[in-house]
Amino acid sequence: MDSFEVNKIAGGVLGTLLATMGLGLVAAWFYEAPTPAKPGYDLPLAMAETSGTGDSKTAAPAKPLPVLLASASPEKGANLAKACGACHNFEKGAGAKIGPPLWGVVDRPVASIPGFSYSEAIKGKGGDWSLDKINAFITSPKGYAPGTKMTYAGETDPQKRADILDYLHTLSDDPKPLPAVSEATPAAAVQPAAAPAPVK
Ligand code: HEC
Repeated sequence: MDSFEVNKIAGGVLGTLLATMGLGLVAAWFYEAPTPAKPGYDLPLAMAETSGTGDSKTAAPAKPLPVLLASASPEKGANLAKACGACHNFEKGAGAKIGPPLWGVVDRPVASIPGFSYSEAIKGKGGDWSLDKINAFITSPKGYAPGTKMTYAGETDPQKRADILDYLHTLSDDPKPLPAVSEATPAAAVQPAAAPAPVK
């Protein structure tokens, strides 16, 4: 092999390298990666949940009511309950408006305000207004009690409902403790049983 041939080979190698780099640059320009709105990358949901930093709003599994109540705010609830205030009084001793008064409604027997003309739909329910039942009712009044007179569309956000329930729960001379998370909730619902292996 003489030096001319060595030069030819070296030139070929260099040329190929240059061409590859050039292509890479052109390709990079064509397929420019969009800049993410927020830096970082999405963690698998379970990890995001446990780390508490992820935005779990998108596809979060339904959280049990006691868990939602544990992080609920009665102040926010009082604010949200202004929507109910169009039809309900909240103060102790206040009478009915379009709907029955809600002071002491948690654990009160369903349809028990004397003189209020309840619908058959509500009268037929029986039992007491547990937090669970009120939650179901205000999620979709018509879905829970078809034929109810409560013409309220419903609150679809579970955390907002928990805030409202937390507030309703304070409307009592002697509020009972909120349901404990540990008793009412299988541990798996609070913390995933097995966190995925950390990504290196
Ligand atoms: C448009 C008026 C209206 C709005 C808004 C409204 N309600 Fe009602 N509510 C009623 C009426 C009317 C009834 C009686 C229902 C029936 O007899 O079918 C009722 C009944 C109830 C009852 C049953 C009380 C009992 O004595 O058995 C609860 C609990 C209740 N509402 C909670 C709420 C909450 C909480 C909100 C807000 C998230 C709300 N309501 C919003 C009109 C309303």
